[in-house]
Amino acid sequence: MKQMADDRLVLEVDDLKTYFFTRWGVVKAVDGVSFSLRQKESLGLVGESGCGKSVTALSLLRLVPQPAGRIVGGKIRLLGEELLSKSEREMRKVRGRLISMILQDPMTSLNPVFRIGFQVGEAIQMHQGLRGKSLWDKAKEVLRLVNIPAPEARLRSYPHEMSGGMRQRVVGAIALSCQPAVLIADEPTTSLDVTIQAQYLKLLRDIQRESSMSLIFITHDFGIVAQMCDRVAVMYAGKIVERGSVLEIFDCPTHPYTQALLAAVLPVEGRPKRLFSIEGQPPSLHDLPPGCPFYERCIRRRDRCRENYPAEVEVSPGHSVNCWEAV
Ligand SMILES: Nc1ncnc2c1ncn2[C@@H]1O[C@H](COP(=O)(O)OP(=O)(O)OP(=O)(O)O)[C@@H](O)[C@H]1O
Ligand SMILES: [Mg+2]
Repeated sequence: MKQMADDRLVLEVDDLKTYFFTRWGVVKAVDGVSFSLRQKESLGLVGESGCGKSVTALSLLRLVPQPAGRIVGGKIRLLGEELLSKSEREMRKVRGRLISMILQDPMTSLNPVFRIGFQVGEAIQMHQGLRGKSLWDKAKEVLRLVNIPAPEARLRSYPHEMSGGMRQRVVGAIALSCQPAVLIADEPTTSLDVTIQAQYLKLLRDIQRESSMSLIFITHDFGIVAQMCDRVAVMYAGKIVERGSVLEIFDCPTHPYTQALLAAVLPVEGRPKRLFSIEGQPPSLHDLPPGCPFYERCIRRRDRCRENYPAEVEVSPGHSVNCWEAV
């Protein structure tokens, strides 16, 4: 697994709530999420599709889809400053410079009609105020940082002239260009083939080792969590249901949901297990019943699980779970 993180707290998220107000009702996409991140630490945010991972990430950048989405509660402290009380103008200085994100789909983060040089340069210019040759040199340096060969030529290319792996590196370069304190990588490798994916993950690890950056890594894949992260938070239906060090979560998963997710990836007696999926579907995020949202799919459910949401219980120092059956 990974190197130890430093002690300094970089990000503190407390009881974050982000809802979508739709004509079908209120979608509680993020419903009371709390976590913290130390310098150099990597936190994996894991869970099935639709559980609120991307909306959590977008909330940290204050880029929740408008007009339906709104952050309705909580605190987000980045380097000691409260982001939720900042104006949009102030947030523009925070994004990219202090906290930056690699979006889930690299094609939507690159504009097909502009050359790579313009797009990389734009981010650098905004935060570092460079122009002309020094801007061009800095853009080249940033492409070199993500191991893009012939950066000079690449700066003159359009996105469609590059492979998927190269485009993803460019997106990474833009996110890293101003050396953010926190980088959020939202499924940055799903569109890449396995070899390119492994190279990209190694690159992110190397960059993190050489800087003081903290990483939030969003993924469905526990295999990637094992390679990339120090700690993991498992999300289900808008809530974090279990959190702990990667070692703890792999050795001693306690929430039935975490156990089911891990059963889907861990090999049995050295052989990869046949692809396992959890029975049933996650609940719809509006009109959630009052109890545990995993109730319908849980193999250990009891009556009380249906009635009340379980409080957080500590399993061991730094490892806790929200499950009645864990008590
Ligand atoms: N613009 C929107 N309007 C209404 N609901 C939305 C909007 N964007 C997201 N949601 C809802 O918020 C919930 C969380 O979505 P989110 O994109 O965070 O999921 P995710 O965990 O990132 O999933 P995936 O793994 O598929 O990327 C989903 O139920 C989704 O339907
Ligand atoms: Mg997502």
